[in-house]
Amino acid sequence: MRKTLSVLTISLGLLASMTTSAEEVYIDVPGHVANCLRCHDGGDKHPVLEIFASPHAVLADPHTRFAEDGCAACHGESIDHSRLPAPAGGEPAEIAFRGPHRSDTETLNKTCMNCHAGADMMHWHGSDHDFKGMACVDCHTIHTRADPAMDHRGQIENCTSCHTKQHAEIHRAFAHPVREGQVTCTDCHNPHGGVGPSDLKTMTVNENCYSCHAEKRGPFLWEHQPVREDCTQCHQPHGSVHRDLLVQRTPFLCQQCHMGQFHPSAALSGTGLPGDDLPSGSRSLIGRDCMNCHVQVHGSNHPAGVGQTR
Ligand code: HEC
Ligand code: HEC
Ligand code: HEC
Ligand code: HEC
Ligand code: HEC
Ligand code: HEC
Ligand code: HEC
Ligand code: HEC
Ligand code: HEC
Ligand code: HEC
Repeated sequence: MRKTLSVLTISLGLLASMTTSAEEVYIDVPGHVANCLRCHDGGDKHPVLEIFASPHAVLADPHTRFAEDGCAACHGESIDHSRLPAPAGGEPAEIAFRGPHRSDTETLNKTCMNCHAGADMMHWHGSDHDFKGMACVDCHTIHTRADPAMDHRGQIENCTSCHTKQHAEIHRAFAHPVREGQVTCTDCHNPHGGVGPSDLKTMTVNENCYSCHAEKRGPFLWEHQPVREDCTQCHQPHGSVHRDLLVQRTPFLCQQCHMGQFHPSAALSGTGLPGDDLPSGSRSLIGRDCMNCHVQVHGSNHPAGVGQTR
């Protein structure tokens, strides 16, 4: 059932070109929509009408803000702008998101936040993107059927257009399947800001990794300290030239922290290892090196797994 709100009274002055006799015009679409569409009628060079195929312009439900306020919900009343003669328009629209009359970022973001102040937006203020003066519409497109930011491919294009370092990293030989669309930037980051470092969705880096690699969470009987501390001490989350997204190839990776023990300090020499029976050095250091013996580098639950050896 339609409420009286959706049957709007539009002043004669504004609709002068459409009405010649009636004092008031009752129409089935909300106020400013009909008014704005006199000029922004799809013959526009901008795809204005596509908004009616998006969640932003649901006319069927009279309880939405759009049904109540129409285009003014985002662009303001724009009375001076929509003065006749059509199609010239008057002053620039009250709130413009793009183009030469773009309003200041604060006004733009406030407009969006009028409706989007939910839990997901909690960390927007003070987030990296807010701090750098970005507007919601630097990532989002409204007059379209489907906002590209909501789609994996569009999102990655958008993010990497500024973050060129990550763009290069996701194209390395060993990377999360971001290019394949299985993992996306926002699986790990919240572009609206987050509690953790680097706008991660989680408090810590490790919580982020555990959310998909749950088997690495532990607890383990035999822990490996850096694994508990921060996965990125050994892994580059966006991509690496080394297998398993490692920041360095092994055994150099291990030897960054483990030098001069009873293990070889010269990488790959293979001598001096426990159980070493070959004069040329241990067979065990060839190929997968340290992990030939320390197979459980992330931690072990085996009663005899001291040194992550089983
Ligand atoms: C009398 C004709 C007319 C009416 C009515 C009209 N506009 Fe416009 N509008 C224009 C013209 C002309 C332009 C400039 C278009 C261009 O540059 O391509 C424009 C541009 C805009 C822009 C682009 C930003 C800017 O200010 O340059 C926005 C946003 C806009 N109109 C919103 C609205 C809204 C919202 C309404 C209804 C409240 C409305 N218009 C009603 C004629 C009109
Ligand atoms: C008048 C209220 C209102 C305003 C103002 C508004 N939105 Fe929305 N928005 C909605 C509603 C309603 C939905 C659909 C329901 C939902 O997903 O919460 C929505 C959905 C969205 C979505 C998800 C789209 C999708 O395809 O699922 C995005 C992104 C969004 N809005 C961004 C914005 C941005 C950016 C602005 C500022 C330019 C803005 N909104 C202004 C009400 C509004
Ligand atoms: C750096 C780019 C970027 C900026 C800036 C940005 N967003 Fe988003 N937003 C996204 C992406 C990407 C998604 C999709 C998230 C997903 O798929 O998990 C999204 C999702 C949304 C959604 C729908 C999903 C949800 O969380 O409810 C809304 C609504 C939204 N954004 C509103 C806003 C508003 C309002 C602002 C400004 C205050 C804003 N966004 C600023 C990139 C951005
Ligand atoms: C939810 C907020 C929202 C609503 C509602 C909305 N617009 Fe817009 N409008 C925008 C944003 C954001 C842009 C910038 C381009 C984009 O994101 O698609 C824009 C751009 C425009 C432009 C200029 C096109 C350009 O590329 O600069 C016109 C004209 C316009 N809107 C008219 C309208 C009309 C007419 C209505 C009502 C049918 C309307 N808008 C409803 C947010 C909105
Ligand atoms: C698998 C999770 C994951 C994915 C997917 C991911 N990131 Fe990250 N990102 C991280 C982690 C973890 C950090 C580092 C956090 C720390 O150490 O402070 C990070 C850091 C960053 C940083 C901060 C600068 C830096 O290099 O330390 C930026 C910018 C960034 N990511 C952008 C992106 C973009 C853009 C995408 C999509 C192409 C993306 N990330 C995909 C997990 C991810
Ligand atoms: C218009 C350019 C732009 C776009 C698009 C953009 N960003 Fe950013 N982003 C920045 C800027 C500028 C910073 C501030 C830090 C910096 O200079 O790297 C930042 C910061 C970040 C950070 C935190 C970096 C840190 O050092 O803590 C992450 C994570 C991030 N962006 C992810 C994303 C994701 C995910 C997307 C896509 C949804 C995205 N960004 C889209 C410009 C952009
Ligand atoms: C959104 C889920 C998700 C998150 C969060 C995530 N990963 Fe992954 N990770 C994957 C997927 C999917 C693969 C690919 C698995 C495959 O190809 O079998 C993968 C692969 C990997 C691989 C390579 C494994 C291989 O077989 O090549 C490593 C290493 C890895 N992730 C480490 C991390 C680290 C470190 C973090 C935290 C910064 C993290 N991941 C966060 C989903 C995730
Ligand atoms: C001390 C260095 C180091 C740290 C810290 C580390 N990893 Fe690894 N990770 C490795 C090495 C080395 C490999 C390759 C293992 C192999 O070849 O047997 C690997 C392989 C992986 C793989 C793919 C193979 C598998 O075991 O599933 C995933 C996923 C992974 N790590 C996730 C994580 C996560 C999540 C964290 C943080 C909780 C983490 N790693 C911390 C060194 C590390
Ligand atoms: C970021 C530094 C760092 C890296 C890289 C690193 N470790 Fe460790 N590792 C430590 C620390 C810290 C400890 C605990 C303190 C100690 O016993 O020296 C430890 C302990 C160990 C132990 C002894 C565990 C025990 O139960 O006594 C082994 C075995 C080990 N690491 C193997 C490796 C291997 C194999 C690699 C390469 C895949 C590696 N580590 C990479 C820092 C690191
Ligand atoms: C041939 C098997 C083998 C190889 C290969 C091997 N280790 Fe070990 N490692 C052991 C054994 C066995 C222990 C003793 C475990 C225990 O405490 O009982 C050990 C102990 C350790 C310890 C603990 C030492 C201490 O002081 O408690 C570290 C750290 C370590 N290894 C690192 C490495 C690194 C780094 C590499 C690669 C350069 C490597 N290991 C290669 C078998 C091996």
